[in-house]
Amino acid sequence: MACLRASLAAAAAASRTTATPYTMPFLSSACSSLRSYSPSASRISLRFFAASPLRPHMYLNLQTGVGLVRAFSGKPSATSSASDPSQLKSARKDIEELLRTTFCHPIMIRLGWHDAGTYDKNIKEWPRRGGANGSLRFEGELKHAANAGLVNALALLQPIKDRYPGITYADLFQLASATAVEAAGGPKIRMKYGRKDVTEPEQCPEEGRLPDAGPPSPAGHLRAVFYRMGLDDKEIVALSGAHTLGRARPDRSGWGKAETKYTKDGPGAPGGHSWTVQWLQFDNSYFQDIKERRDKDLLVLPTDAALFEDPSFKVYAERYAEDQDAFFEDYAEAHAKLSNLGAEFDPPQGFSIDGVPNSPEV
Ligand code: HEM
Repeated sequence: MACLRASLAAAAAASRTTATPYTMPFLSSACSSLRSYSPSASRISLRFFAASPLRPHMYLNLQTGVGLVRAFSGKPSATSSASDPSQLKSARKDIEELLRTTFCHPIMIRLGWHDAGTYDKNIKEWPRRGGANGSLRFEGELKHAANAGLVNALALLQPIKDRYPGITYADLFQLASATAVEAAGGPKIRMKYGRKDVTEPEQCPEEGRLPDAGPPSPAGHLRAVFYRMGLDDKEIVALSGAHTLGRARPDRSGWGKAETKYTKDGPGAPGGHSWTVQWLQFDNSYFQDIKERRDKDLLVLPTDAALFEDPSFKVYAERYAEDQDAFFEDYAEAHAKLSNLGAEFDPPQGFSIDGVPNSPEV
């Protein structure tokens, strides 16, 4: 921590005199280092904060010496209950612009999933049950191994949160995720809003609620984790199809190649190992590519492979490889359900910002 404080001070001093441009490649490589506080890692990540929109929050931290960034430090959002529908609509426009300019669709979907996917249906009490409650904005949860790199997504969304204080982080994360699916060519998702935010880092779930990509028994592991969330085999397979977008990076999750012929030139930050050739296009090629396994430059995690190995999963995986409409229909329903997991809504039934009926109750 002594090294961290020294680096913070140095970064803050440097940031007062240098105007470093804000670029995606820098942001993405820098932030994965937040996972550990080795002196060299903190130097890199602090260079990121010096150049980022989160910089104003960092000074406060220097004064208190607590946490890294004020936005992650336990301060409640301006509205810690329901979100304002008109601010949500404006935020959606800003997210669409962010997606157009930074190609951050995949990481926004991963952010929404990792906030919601900590839900435990066996725990009744909110927020101890986990789920879509904005807890992933806190440093402690961002440092969970499964969340490596997601600080990048938060850094991209924080300026939008600052512009719209009347929306919760929990809603913002799910709004960004659903908007990213749709903007990448995926199905329209019937979302509802009004998720309450947790207000303290102590309300974050313990580490270990999200799935591992390489457990000893992948199908059994997927069932253990997703059944705990109240999701079934069809939903496991459909949701796994989100890997039609994005890449794994060895310096984040430890999976995949540092770059492939499909990722070496971006768009956005170059590198990583994608599951599909067109990894910014939401379609059913994930299922086709896993089934065929013809190209070493396309990723197949052990948990992806399980979808064609387990007899019950295979029924859905085969169907989705054949029929994109069937995949889109089941994906949209499962995504809406995932986005509501564990959430407490205000008003209790939530509300739509599209003038359509709410998504199914969980
Ligand atoms: C089934 C269990 C799952 C496992 C084991 C798993 C594992 C992983 C891993 C290891 C990565 C690479 C992270 C990195 O290195 O940056 C990743 C990325 C990703 N995951 Fe999953 N995942 C699962 C389910 C899901 C679900 C349910 C969704 C969404 C509904 C999802 C969406 C994504 C996306 C979009 C990325 C790409 C992120 C990026 O390019 O920055 N995953 N996942």
